[in-house]
Amino acid sequence: MGNNKNMGMLTKNDKITTNNNMVLERQIETLGALGSSESPMIVPSSDDVTLDTMDGEEELVGSDQTSADYYFDSYAHFGKREMLKDTVRTKTYQNVIYQNSFLFKDKIVLDVGAGTGILSLFCAKGGAKHVYAVECSAMADTAKEIVKANGFSDVITVLKGKIEEIDFPTTHVDIIISEWMGYFLLFENMLNTVLYARDKWLVPGGVVLPDKTSLYLTAIEDAEYKQEKITFWNQVYGFDMSCIRKQAMLEPLVDTVDANQIVTHSTLLKTMDIEKMTAGDASFSAPFKLVASRNDFIHALVAYFDVTFSKCHKATGFSTGPRSRPTHWKQTVMYLEDVITICEGEALTGIMSVSQNKKNPRDLDVTVQYSFNGKRSSASRTQHYRMR
Ligand SMILES: C[S@@+](CC[C@H](N)C(=O)[O-])C[C@H]1O[C@@H](n2cnc3c(N)ncnc32)[C@H](O)[C@@H]1O
Repeated sequence: MGNNKNMGMLTKNDKITTNNNMVLERQIETLGALGSSESPMIVPSSDDVTLDTMDGEEELVGSDQTSADYYFDSYAHFGKREMLKDTVRTKTYQNVIYQNSFLFKDKIVLDVGAGTGILSLFCAKGGAKHVYAVECSAMADTAKEIVKANGFSDVITVLKGKIEEIDFPTTHVDIIISEWMGYFLLFENMLNTVLYARDKWLVPGGVVLPDKTSLYLTAIEDAEYKQEKITFWNQVYGFDMSCIRKQAMLEPLVDTVDANQIVTHSTLLKTMDIEKMTAGDASFSAPFKLVASRNDFIHALVAYFDVTFSKCHKATGFSTGPRSRPTHWKQTVMYLEDVITICEGEALTGIMSVSQNKKNPRDLDVTVQYSFNGKRSSASRTQHYRMR
């Protein structure tokens, strides 16, 4: 999830192409050993995902859709290819399924938000007895075709509709698998759909994949982009456009952060146990303490997440952190009003609060209260951000 959802969001487009190429070309490397936040994990091997056939995205979504359908059916329109090309993401799921057949053998699986059906296909190939692939967008029709073309129609049933509304043909499933994560982990709020399915159909002791996820925070030096994206609006050809600056400050930037920009250690904000948590747990307030690992300026906070499949033989997963191989989730950058001059060992402290927007629950409201009192500077402020 992720790439199809930042239409209203600032992105550093110039970097995006590079990032995609990196995803395709670079070998997957071992994650971890990068500080407490990017924990050691097993990482997918780098054999390629076959994508050559995915070039004509329009073909995937069917030729009789209008542009209005495309707009309102954004999952069918955007990003399938980018998600599948994200080999960190897709190969991790594939490895989890193929290398842990003890989990899947003769089990009934529910794939929540199946998209093209890729995870359902992995599960069927991995030995599942039956897979229910539920997809609410027009992609469900394409998934049916894909399932048939690959000879899995007996094992995979594609159901078109919202999880919350479909007439589900069985009373229980043994496994729920889903790739529900959004930018900043929680943007677009598909987690609630997974929790709904878990509470309705998962057998006691059943497995949710992935089952753990953690959100982290760090701080970066980012003078160049802050100038380009934010400060720019103060004076535009001699005119004050700072009203746009306010808007730009409000919207977190989804982009790949260079590891060299990181000024502090990372801190864990929140871990979620998908098998146990309630929907309410996705709204939270967490204190943070970011200790500088060098003398530098801080322009922004950066959030990222890890995903873990702890039920595997060996805990498996991936990180979307700036020191790990880039994924289509990139990182989420929140610029600070203040430029903080920090010295090694000093700490920027605060509280981050995350909640669903009341009017549009797919949007996220983030509030950061921070304070800093160092040798070279001090600052204390509350800032609000909105992911939409
Ligand atoms: C991030 S995509 C993942 C697609 C696929 N599982 C994959 O890994 O490539 C999430 C999918 O969930 C679908 N989805 C979102 N909310 C849903 C809901 N409430 N019921 C059914 N499908 C949903 C979207 O249309 C989208 O195709």
